[in-house]
Amino acid sequence: MQAGGEHRRTVAWGRASPAPVYSTFHLWDRESDAASQKFFHLCSTMQKDITDIRIGVLGGGQLGRMMLQSGINLNLDIAFLDPDPQAPCASLVPEFTCGSLTDFDTVYAFGRDKDVLTIEIENVNTAALRKLQAEGKKVFPQPDIIELIQDKRKQKTFYKANRIPTADFVLTETRDDVRKHLTMLPAVHKLGREGYDGRGVQVLKSEKDLELAFDKPGLLEPLVDFEKEISVIVARNEQGEVRAFPVVEMSYHPEANLVEFLFSPAEISQEAEEKAREQAIDLIQKLDMVGLLAVEMFLTRDGNILINEVAPRTHNSGHHTIEANITSQFEQHLRAILGLPLGSTELLVPAAMINLLGEPGHSGHARYTGMRESMALEGVHIHLYGKKVTKPFRKMGHVTVTDANLEQLKQKAMKIKEQLKIIA
Ligand SMILES: Nc1ncnc2c1ncn2[C@@H]1O[C@H](COP(=O)(O)OP(=O)(O)OP(=O)(O)O)[C@@H](O)[C@H]1O
Ligand SMILES: [Mg+2]
Repeated sequence: MQAGGEHRRTVAWGRASPAPVYSTFHLWDRESDAASQKFFHLCSTMQKDITDIRIGVLGGGQLGRMMLQSGINLNLDIAFLDPDPQAPCASLVPEFTCGSLTDFDTVYAFGRDKDVLTIEIENVNTAALRKLQAEGKKVFPQPDIIELIQDKRKQKTFYKANRIPTADFVLTETRDDVRKHLTMLPAVHKLGREGYDGRGVQVLKSEKDLELAFDKPGLLEPLVDFEKEISVIVARNEQGEVRAFPVVEMSYHPEANLVEFLFSPAEISQEAEEKAREQAIDLIQKLDMVGLLAVEMFLTRDGNILINEVAPRTHNSGHHTIEANITSQFEQHLRAILGLPLGSTELLVPAAMINLLGEPGHSGHARYTGMRESMALEGVHIHLYGKKVTKPFRKMGHVTVTDANLEQLKQKAMKIKEQLKIIA
């Protein structure tokens, strides 16, 4: 499939006519000497002012939208590719391409006139990214890392090989395979690929739950008796500079399997805080990754930290950083992929984040109730993602509450949860 087609919208305002540096590159391009192309491309990217670097993002959802908001402050040139013509970024940028993220030709064509490519979702065509990288484009996170993370089996195998603390596991190919490991129950069975928002995760308490196991390649790991689920977002640039954000704690919606509340700072010991941040730093370094990495962890009752899974991109567990930290995760991601100095991750004020999920039983044109009452509370910042249609548990927005008093913070977060609803 060709990228662009009817949906491609590019506003002609000068970007199309290349600057002199580009002209040189295009001459060499015609000679199709791969090594020279790469060299000249790198030179032209290095010489460019950051506002002249063409950034392409695979995915144009809410994460892309918040990245764009941050990019506007630096007057960055950001284009998006997304299969949904009504994606949250669609109407906001001069170049929005509607097309598949998993189709080789579409991703390759989208990347050809960009200098730096990045993602806001992992399920993308990595072969096209690899080709773009070989042609001299900067692709961050690197395609190898996206591939590793796309498959939970590869991810966990990497942790084991690199002595990264994680729950024990066995790889399973079929449902029958799971039966061979009954002694591991109660356990969690996870799909290797394409599980997200808990959709590829099944808890198997006893033998009678075996029918719930996936009949596809996956992994089985013991049910961890954790005290808290925590997350650390860490960033690394090409120069090797690394910075981790403070630890946050999350509680999940039992039915939707999505983060319901997030608190920053996490109420954990200083020792656990340091250990978690060190482990996130160690992991991004062992991966040799450039970009932003969200590391989901379990804090066990005996004070250990186990890495559950990672996302090589901005993440739901970092939304509060827009208002609560010196640098937001979105700005940090852009700094990391553009080789800029990383910003301070320091927390300015305690924060809670509440995901605004579509109300169960409501599907259709989205309407919002309780906005005024919520905004009347001090320190409430509402973010709506611009999705026109709501569905049960669809992520429609989030709210960040800031308050120096932790008790008041929790009360306000509960209040927002009760009164701000998205209905049809
Ligand atoms: N070994 C385990 N022991 C206990 N609970 C677990 C275990 N593995 C996963 N869980 C629970 O299931 C949730 C979802 O698991 P995981 O994060 O691996 O899947 P996911 O579908 O990729 O999630 P998401 O996309 O929401 O991040 C975890 O946040 C945790 O609450
Ligand atoms: Mg997860």
